[in-house]
Amino acid sequence: MKFFVDTADIVDIADLAETGLLDGVTTNPSLIAKSGRKFLDVIAEICAFVSGPVSAEVTALDTATMLKEARVLRRIASNVAIKVPLTWDGLKACKALTDDGAMVNVTLCFTANQALLAAKAGATFISPFIGRLDDIGQDGMQLIRDIRRIYDNYPHLKTEILSASIRNADHVTQAALAGSDVATVPPSVLRDLVKHPLTDKGLDAFLADWKKTGQSVL
Ligand code: G3P
Repeated sequence: MKFFVDTADIVDIADLAETGLLDGVTTNPSLIAKSGRKFLDVIAEICAFVSGPVSAEVTALDTATMLKEARVLRRIASNVAIKVPLTWDGLKACKALTDDGAMVNVTLCFTANQALLAAKAGATFISPFIGRLDDIGQDGMQLIRDIRRIYDNYPHLKTEILSASIRNADHVTQAALAGSDVATVPPSVLRDLVKHPLTDKGLDAFLADWKKTGQSVL
């Protein structure tokens, strides 16, 4: 499973990119607002660090203006993936953009039918929001399983499932088990993936025993 990081914080992105674990980045208007910075500058800076897809979201509601915004965003770098909302206008924009060779991430997906429409419109990525479904008492992960099953029934559909709205490490495990192609993960959750108390405890014990030997490799 590929890891994208879900943030517009360039410091976090630079740090995580050093691990070699980062396959891409997703942003959204809320994350850009949180950064307090200019959208186009942030996307350009991220693209300088990351060679994988960097999702930048249009904010227009109609297809024609979405396509105009997409033209500006695509000029920033060749790895910009245009993020469009799961609306009829968004799907039309998705079709036009993918026909023109752009990567498109269709976002705000909450049903398997929406995911099917996005795939038929040629989406590069579909972003089902796990955490927001959990928030309203539904099973977000079931949506990932359902989309996986549907896409696998129709191998000509090439859309990658990009599990989004991931809130914890277990979401990452479950998304991988469900066969999600990508998980976009907040930086804090990505850092949590390495942690286990027994890893820390084991390391402490090994170092204490090593100290007793009085040896040194260097
Ligand atoms: O980028 C879209 C998605 O990951 C948002 O997550 O936590 O705001 O529901 P969240």
